[in-house]
Amino acid sequence: MCGIAGCVGHVNTPGLVVEGLETLQYRGYDSAGIAMQNDGQLEVVKTIGAPGNLRKQFDVNATIAETAIGHNRWATHGPVNMPNAHPHTNETGTIASVCNGTIENYKQLRAELTYNGYSFSSQTDTEVIPHLFDYYLAEGAEPENAFRQALGRLVGAYAVLALTDQDPGALYAAKFSSPLVLGVNGHEHIAASDTVVFAGTTKQATFLEDHDMVRLIADEPPRITSVKDSGSVVRVPEDIEDIEKKVGKGEFEHYMLKEIFESAETVRDATRGRIHPEDNLVKLGGLESVEERIKDTSRIVIVACGTSYYAGLIGEQLIEEIAGIPVEVQQASEFVYRNEPFDKNTTVIAISQSGETADTIGALKKADELAMLKLGIVNSLGSRIYRNTDAGVYCHAGPEIAVASTKAFTSQVTVLTEVAMALAEKSNTLNKPLMEELVALPEKIEAMLADTSAIQAAAKKYADYKNFLFIGRGYNYPVALEGALKLKEVSYIHAEGYGAGEMKHGPLAMIDEDFPTVALATDNPQLEKTMSNIEEIRARRGPVLALATAGNKEVEQTADDVIYVPASLEQTQPILNSIALQLFAYHVAVEKGLNVDQPRNLAKSVTVE
Ligand code: G6P
Repeated sequence: MCGIAGCVGHVNTPGLVVEGLETLQYRGYDSAGIAMQNDGQLEVVKTIGAPGNLRKQFDVNATIAETAIGHNRWATHGPVNMPNAHPHTNETGTIASVCNGTIENYKQLRAELTYNGYSFSSQTDTEVIPHLFDYYLAEGAEPENAFRQALGRLVGAYAVLALTDQDPGALYAAKFSSPLVLGVNGHEHIAASDTVVFAGTTKQATFLEDHDMVRLIADEPPRITSVKDSGSVVRVPEDIEDIEKKVGKGEFEHYMLKEIFESAETVRDATRGRIHPEDNLVKLGGLESVEERIKDTSRIVIVACGTSYYAGLIGEQLIEEIAGIPVEVQQASEFVYRNEPFDKNTTVIAISQSGETADTIGALKKADELAMLKLGIVNSLGSRIYRNTDAGVYCHAGPEIAVASTKAFTSQVTVLTEVAMALAEKSNTLNKPLMEELVALPEKIEAMLADTSAIQAAAKKYADYKNFLFIGRGYNYPVALEGALKLKEVSYIHAEGYGAGEMKHGPLAMIDEDFPTVALATDNPQLEKTMSNIEEIRARRGPVLALATAGNKEVEQTADDVIYVPASLEQTQPILNSIALQLFAYHVAVEKGLNVDQPRNLAKSVTVE
């Protein structure tokens, strides 16, 4: 939630920051802004909407600035308007700051600063930061100390960048509970919420830890110190060369479509070197360090949010069936409140694309308190969840920019299949066919994506309905839930996922000719029962769009419309089915002329609880 980027010493700091904000747009796009400093003079430019709008407000390439900081906002405190857009400044406009996070004690700080004569021009919680910085400077503190003292007053989660005319050419940055990473490239420094900002610019990144603050000056190494005691802190830069690919839409109209089309590659990448069908071997290097503890696992709790949670529901079935270990999946935001009995042999698996989801981080904190083994299935290397788990398996999906998760979900399910096989007994007879199928899957995905005309036609036909049900059984049940979420997220159509067997227990009451159902009717042991459910819906004049296995002609005799997907094993079919439903949601949103990559009210990286 919210993205920040700042730069010192680049030939075109405003250009780099605006470009960085465009890359970070997935974190928020309610408003954007930049503060630029040259010869101690500060200039702030803001806009409502996407950061690209900043380019219309000033000549990004011709503006000279030694330092610049920028922000994409996902509104939390106060509506979307210009005063609430970051950067915020002190009253005299000599300090500017941007913040990603939430300041929990802002009311108290506002009251205190107001008492001391400060006035506020926004409703945001984060405007207290430039005023506190100002307050401590006015008290006579050196800039670095004044910044430290200001940070010391904040309770909450933050990643902050700040500029002051009392230290021209310097960029101050700090983090607590929100991500902040430094890119170092010879003369220049970049500080940003995500390493994607550095793609193609720097090969190394320094991940700041909680309570770190840093003063960045061109040509000098970053000076990292502790907010708590001002002592020097050493953070070793890490290689990011292999992590980041250059981000761009390529020939695709939207990131979401591009990312769906990358699914074959991500499945390949998520299995490369890990599965060896010829030797009946699954090798997950990321779990080797905790092999002994994993052996003692008697129960697994998967914690995740959104699409990752639905991947977890598929993982639950996979692990229980393949490895025979009881699994429970919990929404991370609920896990933290429950008082269930756990023993030390419970392992927690956190699933997260971004690795920064606040609720999932909260769940890991609880797991920590209970001394559980914490594993991560994460797509962003270096992210907080990646760092806060004992071991894990990387998703290898590459940067995902569209807010609605697609290829990362496909990777998560692939990885969960591998984890299930890795946890299984060697004698497990399912492993070999599953491994062979995972190897075959990318080609099946490619074949499916080679002709998506049936999905596009269905999207056109169904785009004007106001409500949808998605139903499925067995492995297709979580797929139905995820299919409904995807449609909600990008098309704003009300959609619910249900176990097909639950239809008669309520949802059937809603069915009429205006209430279509998307039925997951691919070949599996429950197909016959799902077909009965489709009949029951049809008998009540409910339109049915079914997903069926290529070659199965029975479904089209009952459903109104059918999208065919390649046949797979029951356990891997969710990957293919989900891709079809992602495309369906995408094309419905396009039909409706919506902003597919940045749906209203949402953000990709949800760093507040
Ligand atoms: C947000 C995103 C979803 C994502 C969820 C969990 O809601 O819009 O696409 O599934 O967060 O995010 P994570 O990064 O933890 O997978």
